[in-house]
Amino acid sequence: MAKLLEVRNLSVAVRRGRKRLYAVRDISYGISGGEIVGIAGESGCGKTLGALAIPRLLPRGVEIAGGEIVFQGRNLGVLSERELCRIRGQSLSMIFQEPMTSLNPLMKTGRQISEVMELHRGNVPYHRGDFSALCRKETLDIMRKTGLPDAERIYRAYPHELSGGMRQRVMIALSIICRPALLIADEPTTALDVTIQAQIISLMKNINRELGTSILFISHDLALISQLCSRILIMYAGKIVEEGRVGEVFSRPAHEYTRGLLFSIPSREHKGAALANIPGRVPSIEEFVPGCPFAPRCALSHESCYRVFPERKQLNENHWVCCNLPNVSPLRREERREGHAGFKAAGSDHSG
Ligand SMILES: Nc1ncnc2c1ncn2[C@@H]1O[C@H](COP(=O)(O)OP(=O)(O)OP(=O)(O)O)[C@@H](O)[C@H]1O
Ligand SMILES: [Mg+2]
Repeated sequence: MAKLLEVRNLSVAVRRGRKRLYAVRDISYGISGGEIVGIAGESGCGKTLGALAIPRLLPRGVEIAGGEIVFQGRNLGVLSERELCRIRGQSLSMIFQEPMTSLNPLMKTGRQISEVMELHRGNVPYHRGDFSALCRKETLDIMRKTGLPDAERIYRAYPHELSGGMRQRVMIALSIICRPALLIADEPTTALDVTIQAQIISLMKNINRELGTSILFISHDLALISQLCSRILIMYAGKIVEEGRVGEVFSRPAHEYTRGLLFSIPSREHKGAALANIPGRVPSIEEFVPGCPFAPRCALSHESCYRVFPERKQLNENHWVCCNLPNVSPLRREERREGHAGFKAAGSDHSG
């Protein structure tokens, strides 16, 4: 079956004078209809720029430097701005960490949602007055679906009158009012407290189940990804370094980076224990690394890892890794508890 979204060899670059610095380097993946896919990775790995490239919403000075994005069988790279606008409003939406940046502070929240609907479904054959009433009713329905209490009151409220969790729900209502085929959610719960986070995750599940919307969910939080997603992409330094079904990647990670991220999840039985962070840091986009970008932080790296860029290897039907020496072994409980003894201490150099 054709994929809903196919990202093929996508590269995204930041312009610095005459130079192009690559924030996303030659990534490929697909999302099927109704699927929820997670993207994880430390800060600066290119998750956001990779996602913003899909609806062509990259900030100034950042551009697509290669590859293709095919959505519902159409190559988005060749569409006019007008056609793209239609797709963004109707079949592909995005939500961000801070909803205030996307909501209009001067307009009542309900009106903002129904306006989107009027704009994008304006071709429905209704008498104008009836159509507005219909939009208002559907807006209230969608607001209730997102769990907003007292939808009538919130319809009339301005964004600043709402709590962070309510604003995020309004943002989600806004993004699903046209029943998009794909919702890209970039850290939608990071600014919210844990209880609200859990509610937003269950709302995402409902949207997926009831509307059949596919979701690309970007998060630092692997625990949230495991609750929501069926497949995960792990990004490091602009590359997808591991990809697979969540159950398999979490229990048998093949990339040392993935293992490191997994050790950083606080376990239930050791609440309050210090997180085992991965020593070292993500290379900046200015630093060119000829071999594996993770080699300086990887306990298993060999001298060749600093020279040879790792090929993508298929481990089984649903599991891929980009590593010269993949180490597929089950994640042991005690490893997680003790932190990852396998990582080099921060700042330690490679000796080959
Ligand atoms: N508007 C921009 N102009 C220049 N460089 C940028 C811009 N946005 C991001 N970058 C750089 O591109 C790289 C990837 O950034 P991106 O925001 O995609 O990372 P991220 O994985 O989403 O990180 P985070 O988890 O912090 O959101 C980083 O090195 C960042 O500094
Ligand atoms: Mg980001």
